[in-house]
Amino acid sequence: MTRPSGSVAVLGLGTMGTGLATRLLDQGIQVRVWNRTAERTGPLAKAGAFAAAHPADAVEGTSAAICTVADGEALAAVLRGPDGVLARGPYPGALVCASTVAPEEVVRLAGQVPAVLDVGMLGNREHARSGELRLFVGGEERVFASGRPLLELLGKEVVHLGELGSGMRMKLLLNMLMGIEVQALAEAAELAAAAGLDRQLVLGTIAGSGFASPVMVFKSKRLAAGRFDKPDFRLRLMAKDLQLVADQAAAAGLRLPLAEAAARTHVRATEQGFGEEDCVAVTHALTRKPGTDR
Ligand SMILES: NC(=O)c1ccc[n+]([C@@H]2O[C@H](COP(=O)([O-])OP(=O)(O)OC[C@H]3O[C@@H](n4cnc5c(N)ncnc54)[C@H](OP(=O)(O)O)[C@@H]3O)[C@@H](O)[C@H]2O)c1
Repeated sequence: MTRPSGSVAVLGLGTMGTGLATRLLDQGIQVRVWNRTAERTGPLAKAGAFAAAHPADAVEGTSAAICTVADGEALAAVLRGPDGVLARGPYPGALVCASTVAPEEVVRLAGQVPAVLDVGMLGNREHARSGELRLFVGGEERVFASGRPLLELLGKEVVHLGELGSGMRMKLLLNMLMGIEVQALAEAAELAAAAGLDRQLVLGTIAGSGFASPVMVFKSKRLAAGRFDKPDFRLRLMAKDLQLVADQAAAAGLRLPLAEAAARTHVRATEQGFGEEDCVAVTHALTRKPGTDR
């Protein structure tokens, strides 16, 4: 396997960014990290990464920069903020946008960065740490070819889908399925509880049935335990992705009733204050609050 040449910046050290940076360090790659909340760089700095003061500092001298911040607003701040990646002129390396954002946002980047890829990451923090993500990539063929050695360190499957924005489109439709499936599971669990059935028994039965997808089996354990902390995937990020799906559907003239309903439920759960919990906390938005229409 060809090794990536040069050091790599990882911008945004949440669930996924921390996993990706750890993986690169484990593979002997020089890593420069930056995070808005500086304390989060501590463990990676201990493990050998250079902790930069701001994004422009982080990308200095790197051959690639992986952006794993939360959303489009965060991506704009990291790229175009006063000390952002583009503050000192065009970034000469490969910019890998692994944040899930609107496809149009990454397409716009093509005018500002000579080499850019958008990468939809399928997998969780454990997959990120162990290089077992499945990566769906959009961008020009020549940029994909140069970024491939890096991506192959991070993923067990690396698929070039086509033009810039394709990675995000793929990621959004995968998360559309996940959001709908997790909400369906939560709806069944709430109905079971309201009907006086044993919640644990019902969740176990669903998980062992032909109606459950692997993500439902996985999330049924969280629901059964009532465990919403230490999120694998934050509820507010799922709400963001489902809203992006709804926007894509509207722009394409499609009606996607399940996706639109899931987007509304996840937005409501976020507004109710569950955004920082695991996405399975969507279950909290399914019980009506007495005396309100919510
Ligand atoms: N978790 C998953 O399983 C998964 C899988 C595939 C793709 N994704 C996508 O990958 C991206 C990261 O997900 P995650 O789960 O790692 O998220 P996360 O744990 O919530 O971390 C979010 C990161 O974004 C940073 N951030 C948020 N707003 C910012 C802003 N305005 N300016 C600068 N930095 C900002 C946070 O910094 P602070 O530490 O300062 O808050 C943190 O580093 C998201 O787009 C998500 O949809 C996630």
